[in-house]
Amino acid sequence: MCGIVGIVGKSNAEQIILNGLERLEYRGYDSAGMYVADRTSDHLIKAQGRIKNLEAKVTPEVTGTIGIGHTRWATHGKPSERNAHPHTSGNEELVLVHNGVIENFEELHDTYLADHHFAGQTDTEIVVHLIEVLKAQNSSTTKEAFKQALTLIRGSYAFALVDKKDSETIYVAKNKSPLLIGLGDGFNVICSDALAMLDQTTHFVEIEDGEMVTVQADEITIEDLKGNLVYRESYEAQLDLTDIEKGTYPYYMLKEIDDQPTVMRRLIQEYQGTNGQVTIDPQLKAEMIASDRIYIIACGTSNHAGWAAKAILETLTQIPVEVHLSSEFGYNTPLLSAKPFFIFLTQSGETADSRQVLVKINALGLPSLTITNVAGSTLSREAKHTLLLHAGPEIAVASTKAYTAQIAVMTLLAKAIGDEKAVQAAFDFDVFHELSIVASTMETLVDEKAVISQFAEDFLSTSRNAFYIGRGNDYYVSMEAALKLKEISYIQAEGFAAGELKHGTIALIEEGTPVIGIISEAVTGSHTRGNLKEVESRGAHTLVIASQELAKPTDQIIIPNVHPLVTSLVSVIPTQLLAYFATLQRGYDVDKPRNLAKSVTVE
Ligand code: G6P
Repeated sequence: MCGIVGIVGKSNAEQIILNGLERLEYRGYDSAGMYVADRTSDHLIKAQGRIKNLEAKVTPEVTGTIGIGHTRWATHGKPSERNAHPHTSGNEELVLVHNGVIENFEELHDTYLADHHFAGQTDTEIVVHLIEVLKAQNSSTTKEAFKQALTLIRGSYAFALVDKKDSETIYVAKNKSPLLIGLGDGFNVICSDALAMLDQTTHFVEIEDGEMVTVQADEITIEDLKGNLVYRESYEAQLDLTDIEKGTYPYYMLKEIDDQPTVMRRLIQEYQGTNGQVTIDPQLKAEMIASDRIYIIACGTSNHAGWAAKAILETLTQIPVEVHLSSEFGYNTPLLSAKPFFIFLTQSGETADSRQVLVKINALGLPSLTITNVAGSTLSREAKHTLLLHAGPEIAVASTKAYTAQIAVMTLLAKAIGDEKAVQAAFDFDVFHELSIVASTMETLVDEKAVISQFAEDFLSTSRNAFYIGRGNDYYVSMEAALKLKEISYIQAEGFAAGELKHGTIALIEEGTPVIGIISEAVTGSHTRGNLKEVESRGAHTLVIASQELAKPTDQIIIPNVHPLVTSLVSVIPTQLLAYFATLQRGYDVDKPRNLAKSVTVE
């Protein structure tokens, strides 16, 4: 959600910025813009829609040695060229890009800017005008005025500011939104995500909330808002360019679906200790064992992974588990148990809805763990403990490998806790063996592309709506399957507890409505089959995804058997492929669905 890149000290800044913005496309955006300059000229260009529209405006004279670029995901003001960043001050001397939301923008407007004219409707434009006003009022430098503005602003932000009179400096600051400095040889860069600038550098420096950084070609200066200098070591990003390239794949989503067996094997390697046990920090284990209830807090696909992991955690640890939506939990907090333990599940580690809960949990002094794909992300830094997903960057907006990696990491964690607590079910569950069976089963399933593409064609390519149904774990996978389908193919899809359909939603079943049943649970399989019969007799077009041991000859998609605790890791694979192929057949962009952002940094 909104992306920022910038560079100072290298020629062809415009090209580096365009490349960087392309790598941030995954975050979701609806317009883009950049400012580039050198000592003799400057250029501000913006475009609605895709980066290629911006690229088309980069004529040969648009070049420079300093620049800032932005992808915008509209919050205040509709997607348009006028609202795209960068924004300029009233005197057009200051140029600003912003990721986040300024909560007190109306107050700032009324107090400082009532007589100002604005080109668009964004909160960002208020900030750049405010800096201009503060600079004039106090006859201060741009840097001092920026710093003063930061003390007046409330909300989330990553800012990059350039003064047109100084083509050698970018000022940056952040609060709650991500921003990194990348160190080059004779140049420096800024970016929302290290991925964007990996072709320029692998050495990055983190910025903390409440700091301001002056970025020049040969040096960066970090200071707090009181002017105290801060020294921070750089770190080397553990990523390489092949991780973020599609290679021969037409879409990232397909590559990421295919990555899943490898991710399972990588997790086995990462978490298997030399003693054959799961390696988990003893302090984390002790805190979880001391708790009387685990609260999983997450949004979207991560929330669905939480549901899929609930039974695994409860079975192996014998600790009750509740799963909550972050955006609900923070403001309608249920009565907590006496010794709660919190798990934040977040692929990006930046989701604002989840972070607001973590802030509250930290204020109460309660223990927490973030399970994330991004080391050093905000939720990772702010929770007491972190476990990594080791899934490699997930670029497609629709999450696939992060979902299965989250379930697998929670399975490993559950096994470690259960072993420590001497729970019999944990002793009986050979997690590394079971996950390696999962990896091989995933391999078999991802090879079924031709067959699944045909089912997508037959069942989903022209349908207006669709239902996934199942019970227990199959219900939780149904929720994820339906989310995947709706977010990229725009088919109105719902995941239902199979038994609930007849209590209302069955009214929506018409001749030809696709209903996909997932059957991997022995105790409920026959009931789900009964529910499929009910919808069939009302005209539904049914497709069954069943595990081998429960399959009937007429079932269309058969899943090789895996341990009953971890069926969700494999039954989800055909549903990811169904969503992928249905989207292609309907002619939409698989990786960049409309209106969605990968990393949602506003509440
Ligand atoms: C966005 C993404 C979803 C994701 C959700 C939670 O809405 O589009 O794919 O599941 O955020 O993200 P997180 O990074 O916290 O897992």
